[in-house]
Amino acid sequence: MENLSGIIRGRKSIRTFDSGNISDEHREKISEYIKGITNPFNIPVEFVVLDAKEYGLSSPVLSGEGLYIAGKVEKKPYADVAFGYSFEKLVLYAWSLGVGTVWIGGTMKRELFEKAAGVKEGEMMPCVSPLGYPAKKRSLKETMMRKGIGADSRISADKLFFEDEWGRPLTPGEDLADILEMVRWAPSAVNKQPWRIILKEGIYHFYEKKDKGYINDTTGDLQKIDVGIALCHFMMGLEASGKIPEIIIDDPKIDVPEDVEYIAGVRMR
Ligand SMILES: Cc1cc2nc3c(=O)[nH]c(=O)nc-3n(C[C@H](O)[C@H](O)[C@H](O)COP(=O)(O)O)c2cc1C
Repeated sequence: MENLSGIIRGRKSIRTFDSGNISDEHREKISEYIKGITNPFNIPVEFVVLDAKEYGLSSPVLSGEGLYIAGKVEKKPYADVAFGYSFEKLVLYAWSLGVGTVWIGGTMKRELFEKAAGVKEGEMMPCVSPLGYPAKKRSLKETMMRKGIGADSRISADKLFFEDEWGRPLTPGEDLADILEMVRWAPSAVNKQPWRIILKEGIYHFYEKKDKGYINDTTGDLQKIDVGIALCHFMMGLEASGKIPEIIIDDPKIDVPEDVEYIAGVRMR
């Protein structure tokens, strides 16, 4: 993907669509891209494209959408993080073509989508997204919703990225600062941005800072999905700047607050 930083900074959730279908060319490109999506946790995420009319699918926050894409993953440790990582790749790729998406984990009739996507025993379908071209103007309900969530702002870097210990702000060099901006602007459920990073001895340790009410049986842990999204932006940012990052799971046992869980580390090969 060219101009990753521009794609990340330009992307917004799209909830108002132009009512037309996406072009065959874009549909074809997205189908091809999906086949190649992997994540560093080696947990496969399966994508299913669904026609909204055919299956009677809708969401109260959306208007004008004709197509959905659902993601399915086997329930197991790290499935939510892997899901976030893989699904975000799709989101960014779609946006690079001008195709709008929005992560939907809550505002949908879940049973209908799960049935249409053929979710089996032992699998979960944490989120779906519409696929379509943005309408010229946002619906009033979308504008109100963005305001309510504060969708156009993010937590400042000094509260997200730390060095050596929890709470001590990281002072990044210019290259890293750009990549951390890509992480900061990632989308998250209700725009909570639950990811935190502590850089220690050359490893970027990712943590989940948990809020109440984001974990259940059918969606997994939505905030772990958010951390997967942040990891995706970080890894893609590093790769775009010529680095070869790898993920390791090895808790450094840094002292962190009680509502904070270690997820994974990133180091350069
Ligand atoms: C895991 C996840 C679940 C989400 N679920 C919903 C949802 O159910 N309904 C909705 O309208 N937006 C949902 N969102 C979109 C967020 O509200 C949105 O990404 C955030 O407010 C930031 O806005 P932006 O994407 O325009 O930058 C979800 C986002 C994520 C990452």
